[in-house]
Amino acid sequence: MSDRAPGAVLISAERIRDRVAELGRAISNDYRGEAVSLVGVLKGSLFFVADLVRAIDLPVRYELLRVSTYGAERSPQRPPEVLLAADLEIKGRHLIVVEDIADSGYTIDAVRRTLLAESPASLKVCVLLDKPARRRVPVPLDYVGFEIEDRFVVGYGLDHGERYRGLPYIAVLDPD
Ligand code: IMP
Ligand code: MG
Repeated sequence: MSDRAPGAVLISAERIRDRVAELGRAISNDYRGEAVSLVGVLKGSLFFVADLVRAIDLPVRYELLRVSTYGAERSPQRPPEVLLAADLEIKGRHLIVVEDIADSGYTIDAVRRTLLAESPASLKVCVLLDKPARRRVPVPLDYVGFEIEDRFVVGYGLDHGERYRGLPYIAVLDPD
């Protein structure tokens, strides 16, 4: 049994690697002389955070948090719940939220609000993928790896029912 090639490869492993290196350089330039804390949103951003941390040429920390999404029931009336670890160090730090994909925007919006309430020195958002056609709530995206069409994608951390996260590339999931 293998989890390979659910559909057409949209973004190859090589393009992901090159783009993560570029994002790392951009962040390193923008925060020169500072220390940054990446705040990864589990589980989808795991590989992106891991690669981005190593592409940033600054003192860099990372934290990981979870967001509960209530399945398909996301709406502004019922925002995702952000679960902060008790020992998360936020106050006075330069935070960069790291997410796999900006879809409706509800997840990033909830994470931003929760973190901003804890008085960071600054807060930016970095996503690997942006699907602007699906946005329901506006969110500022400071660093974007790739803008994509409204297709369901998997790989490099992104799943469909917990499958395909381990693919080294991003693929379109064939509808069936
Ligand atoms: P949002 O709150 O609607 O922006 O959703 C963000 C979350 O939905 C992401 O962290 C993903 O877990 C999931 N998601 C959205 N689009 C896709 C996709 O194309 N493939 C896999 N997961 C997705
Ligand atoms: Mg997911």
